[in-house]
Amino acid sequence: MGERGTSPFPVVAPRRGARGRGRGHAVAPAPLSVWRMTSEQTPVVWPLIATSGLPPTGAQMGVDLLSGGAFYCDPIGWVTDDDIPVTNPNVVVFGKPGRGKSATVKAFALRMLGYGYRTLVLGDTKDEYEPLCRALGVEPIAVGHGLPARVNPLDFGPLGHGWDRLPAAEARRREALVFARWIVLLRGLVGSHHVPFGPVEETAVGEALRLLTGYRSGATRLTEVTVPRLWRALDEPPDALITSCRYADRRHFLDATRTLRDALGSLVKGSLAGLFDDRTTIAVDWRAPIQSLSLSRLEPLGDQAVGIALTCLNSWGQAMREIAEPGDLRIVVRDETWRQMRLGTEALKSLDANLRLSRRDADVQVLLAHKPSDMLTAGDATSQAVAIARDLLHLCDVKVLHGQDQAVGEELGDLLGLTPIAQRVVTGWAVAGKGRALWLVGDRAFKVQTVLTGPELDLTYTNEALTAGRPA
Ligand SMILES: Nc1ncnc2c1ncn2[C@@H]1O[C@H](COP(=O)(O)OP(=O)(O)OP(=O)(O)O)[C@@H](O)[C@H]1O
Ligand SMILES: [Mg+2]
Repeated sequence: MGERGTSPFPVVAPRRGARGRGRGHAVAPAPLSVWRMTSEQTPVVWPLIATSGLPPTGAQMGVDLLSGGAFYCDPIGWVTDDDIPVTNPNVVVFGKPGRGKSATVKAFALRMLGYGYRTLVLGDTKDEYEPLCRALGVEPIAVGHGLPARVNPLDFGPLGHGWDRLPAAEARRREALVFARWIVLLRGLVGSHHVPFGPVEETAVGEALRLLTGYRSGATRLTEVTVPRLWRALDEPPDALITSCRYADRRHFLDATRTLRDALGSLVKGSLAGLFDDRTTIAVDWRAPIQSLSLSRLEPLGDQAVGIALTCLNSWGQAMREIAEPGDLRIVVRDETWRQMRLGTEALKSLDANLRLSRRDADVQVLLAHKPSDMLTAGDATSQAVAIARDLLHLCDVKVLHGQDQAVGEELGDLLGLTPIAQRVVTGWAVAGKGRALWLVGDRAFKVQTVLTGPELDLTYTNEALTAGRPA
C-alpha cells in the first residue's frame, strides 16, 4: 500500500504520451467509444476472442493461437468435466486432402498412449497407419484377396464365450445384444444394394440366424454363422425357418424374400468373397498399444467394396468391444469414413449406432472425412438420410476443422452452425498451413496449430507417392 494520498500506480507515461519526436505524443487523444455489456454478450460482439481455456489434461496437441497457450485434447476428460459443454467423446475431423487430418489423429493416438489409451484403426484404406504400428512394435493386419486374414463380421465376439455356463437371464441379455448388432450390420450390407430392409427382411434374417446358431433349439454351444451360410439358409430354407417366419409354404417364403436373397447373394459372390465370408482367422492382441487393419489392397475394387469392408469391420470391431473391461480406454479411428457413408442410409444408421455406444464403452471414436456434405451423399438425398447424417454430426461434440476451400464455407455454416468469422478461419487461415485447424469443443472454438515432433513427422509422412523419384 502506498503512502496516504499517493496512488499505488505510479504514472509511467502521461495521458497524451511522452513529449518529443518519435515518442508517441498525441496532441488530441483518440476518441474512445465506451461500450457496456455483460460478459455473456461480449463473445457475440467480438467472437473468436480467446475463450476460457480447457484444463491441461490429455494429449498436448500444439498451440492455441488465441490464448497463446498450449492446447490439450482429452475428450473423455471433457465429458466428465461439467464445466465443459461436451456430452460425448466422439471426434469428427474435416479438411481438404493433405491438410493434416490423419497426422493430427496419429499424433493424438500416440500422445494418448501415456494415459493408458490404446488405438484401434478400423480400416486403414491407404495403409498409412503402418509406420506408426511398426514404431510401436505391432505388425498391422492386412486384409485383401489371397491373404490369410479373414474377418467374420458375424463373429460372436467375447459375448459368446462360455455360453454353456451362462445363467438364462444373462444368455438372453447377450442374445439381444449380439442379434441386434447382426441386424444392424445386415441392414447396412443389404441396404448398400439399395434394397429395402423392412420387417419382412428383418424377421427372415433374425429367424435364420437363430436357427443357424442353434439358439432356437436351446443349444448350449452356439455355432458361428457366416454371411454365405446365412444366404444359403435363406435360399434353400429348411421347413423350420418357413414355419417360424409364419409363411404358408416354401414358394411364399421365397417370393417374399427374393430381393433380400439376391442382395445377399451378390455380396457373397462379389464384394465379400474371400474376405469377410468365413470364420475370423486373425488373433488380435487387445493388449497391444495399437491395432490396425490395412485395406489398401481393396482399393482397386472400388468405393463400394471399400465401403462394405468398412461396414463389416465396423460391426466386428464393435463385437470386440462388447465386454470391455472398465478402464480399457480406446481410441477407435475410422479414416475415410465418407466411403462408408456413400453406401446409403442403412450404412449411416450402423455408424450412428456405434457412435451412440461410445459413452458406454468409454471409447473415443474418431471419424475423418473431407467435408460435412460427404456425410449427406448417402445414396439418394432422402430427407431421412440427411436427417441421420445431421444427427451423426451432433453425436460428435468435438469437431476439428482443417482448411477448406471457399466453396465449402457456406456448408460449414449450414451444417455445423459455424459463424461467418469462424468460417473464414477455416477457409482462410487454416488453409495456409498444415496442421492448422479450428477445434470446436462443444460450443467453444479454438484456433490450434498442431505441432509434430521430428519422429512424428517421419511417421505421419504421406507424400511418398508425390515425392518419389524426385532428387533429394
Ligand atoms: N502439423 C503438421 N506439421 C507439419 N507437417 C504436417 C502437419 N500435419 C501434417 N503434416 C504433413 O502433411 C502431409 C499430409 O498430411 P495428412 O496425411 O495428415 O493429410 P490428410 O489431411 O489426412 O490428407 P488426406 O485427405 O489425403 O488423407 C504429411 O506428410 C504430414 O506429415
Ligand atoms: Mg488422411
